[in-house]
Amino acid sequence: MKYIDDELTEKMILITGGAGFIGSNLAFYFQKNHPKAKVVVLDSFRGGEVLSNGNLKSFGHFKNLLGFKGEIISGDINDKELLKKLQNNYKFDYIFHEAAISDTTALEQDLMIKTNLNAYQDLLELAIKHKANMIYASSAATYGNAPSPQRVGREAPQNVYGFSKLSMDYLSSGYMKQAEISIVGLRYFNVYGKREYFKNTTASMVLQFGHQILSKKNPRLFEGSDRILRDFIYIEDVIAANIKAMHPKKSGIYNIGTGKARSFQDIVDILQNELGTSLECEYMPNPFIGRYQFHTEADIVSSKNGLGYEPTYELESGIKTYIPEIKRLFETEVK
Ligand SMILES: NC(=O)c1ccc[n+]([C@@H]2O[C@H](COP(=O)([O-])OP(=O)(O)OC[C@H]3O[C@@H](n4cnc5c(N)ncnc54)[C@H](O)[C@@H]3O)[C@@H](O)[C@H]2O)c1
Repeated sequence: MKYIDDELTEKMILITGGAGFIGSNLAFYFQKNHPKAKVVVLDSFRGGEVLSNGNLKSFGHFKNLLGFKGEIISGDINDKELLKKLQNNYKFDYIFHEAAISDTTALEQDLMIKTNLNAYQDLLELAIKHKANMIYASSAATYGNAPSPQRVGREAPQNVYGFSKLSMDYLSSGYMKQAEISIVGLRYFNVYGKREYFKNTTASMVLQFGHQILSKKNPRLFEGSDRILRDFIYIEDVIAANIKAMHPKKSGIYNIGTGKARSFQDIVDILQNELGTSLECEYMPNPFIGRYQFHTEADIVSSKNGLGYEPTYELESGIKTYIPEIKRLFETEVK
């Protein structure tokens, strides 16, 4: 669906992290709905490098961009020479900044702060020089275990990932006071949907449970999963939020969730219903107690007012829409 009337003819759009989950969905949104826009994807793509937790350093994957016809640059946002080239050789109208160490369990504080915060500042400077509106990915991880509903101004990050995103928001708030461009930080809650498969074990539990069920394994949940609640948001609503954020009523930091908390047990039950199974669930102790979010629910009043954002998918309808893709991935990638 097209979310703005402007054709964006000849507009130059940079998407950092464009080979990842959300970035690649944005790239295809523009290709489909605004074919006259010029989209440049910048991503470091996956190499073999892993973090100390065993996960890949970058999850970008060429398969997320199969069929994308715009320009693709393999590069690191920490590379100042590359950013200088982007500044001199292009003139962007919009920057969607999705590139990050997106793994919330990563322990490398040095890499996290450098990549998520310091490189973002360089991109913000580039945006100001180009007079490009900036839309960047913040996160519900900024709230940590702060009480629901989560509201901007009541943050309590529990890990360095959440800290890095909150620091991006603080940095942005300073720039918002003086910059001529609009700057919008989107605090995504738990996003699920197409093109997340290559995030491996950091992909959403919707996908992971879906594949457990399709392989006829009993879904494995943490004990008390009917009481572990999160605000799960479908990718289509996240794309809509990004597009509306291109011309916000006001620069700012906005929650992007449904405004409703649902349990991990709900996910499994909806999936089993959709897939026609009745596998028995297995429950295991939660090893993350103390650094785990037990209840998230976005307060989206200001997002509605400031962006015209309105979530359209309930967990039921989001999963239903996603099921064919979960099945396709199972057939082509998992089996
Ligand atoms: N998916 C979610 O539920 C969620 C929730 C909150 C916030 N976010 C944030 O949204 C953004 C997009 O998340 P995603 O789910 O698409 O994750 P993702 O890991 O699929 O996408 C991030 C992309 O950034 C790239 N990248 C990493 N380091 C880079 C570097 N140094 N230079 C260039 N590219 C680099 C990766 O290769 C990857 O393709 C991230 O900033 C993430 O922190 C995501």
